[in-house]
Amino acid sequence: MSQLLDEVFKARSFTNSKGELVKVHSETNRDQCKFLQQIIRDKKASKTIEIGFAFGISTLAITEEVAKNGHRHVVIDRFENTGWHGNGLELLSMAGLSDAIEFYEEYCYIILPELLKQGRKFDFAYVDSTKLFDWLMVDFFYLDKMLEPGGVIVFDDLMFPGIRKLFRYLVQFPHYQLYGVYPENKKITGVRKAVSFLRHLPKSQKYISPEVILDDYKLGINSNCVALEKVGEDERRWDWHKTF
Ligand SMILES: C[S@@+](CC[C@H](N)C(=O)[O-])C[C@H]1O[C@@H](n2cnc3c(N)ncnc32)[C@H](O)[C@@H]1O
Repeated sequence: MSQLLDEVFKARSFTNSKGELVKVHSETNRDQCKFLQQIIRDKKASKTIEIGFAFGISTLAITEEVAKNGHRHVVIDRFENTGWHGNGLELLSMAGLSDAIEFYEEYCYIILPELLKQGRKFDFAYVDSTKLFDWLMVDFFYLDKMLEPGGVIVFDDLMFPGIRKLFRYLVQFPHYQLYGVYPENKKITGVRKAVSFLRHLPKSQKYISPEVILDDYKLGINSNCVALEKVGEDERRWDWHKTF
């Protein structure tokens, strides 16, 4: 991790080129950034994409890793200038990495189909944007089409119910497997565990929520940040389904 990123984590702020103190929030934390960087190193990823720029913390972490090998990182954020006053771009400029990003200030549902049409491929994707189930399902749909087998897709914020629910589905896709989580997958305790024996009752699937029948811990996703590896092409039958 670069000295600049380290200093931003310590101060949770940086001073932009206009001399304004930018107080960082909503950022990917230091250890999670290290987790992302480790995946990129382990996978030797060179074609990376991210949704959610904001103050540029995860973007800088990813970009500094791929730029070491002369690669550029694609980043999408509809509100970088309007909502975040361009401070993510400022941070990348301070790191001397402005030319190492390909930035789109647009909604992801506009840009992702364009990238697909251009025949772009990726081997690493990080999604840290909206928390809406349907929007993220659409993002995953397009990213999956562009992710190469062996590539890894990482979502932040599984503590949000929409994202957790989405991942209960995605982790069961036959062409994906769990690659890693940050922090660790925590065991489910308490009431949910106590009633889990009910799943053995007849017709339990009809009356008991899928979360009790197959809990998030058993799915391996009871965490905040989850990485899935694409292990092949999507060969599901047209009527494939898993309860989630
Ligand atoms: C939590 S912040 C990202 C934080 C950043 N990853 C970091 O580590 O510093 C979420 C970002 O997603 C952007 N965003 C939300 N919905 C979006 C969408 N549909 N398309 C593109 N960007 C979106 C927001 O403007 C915001 O900057």
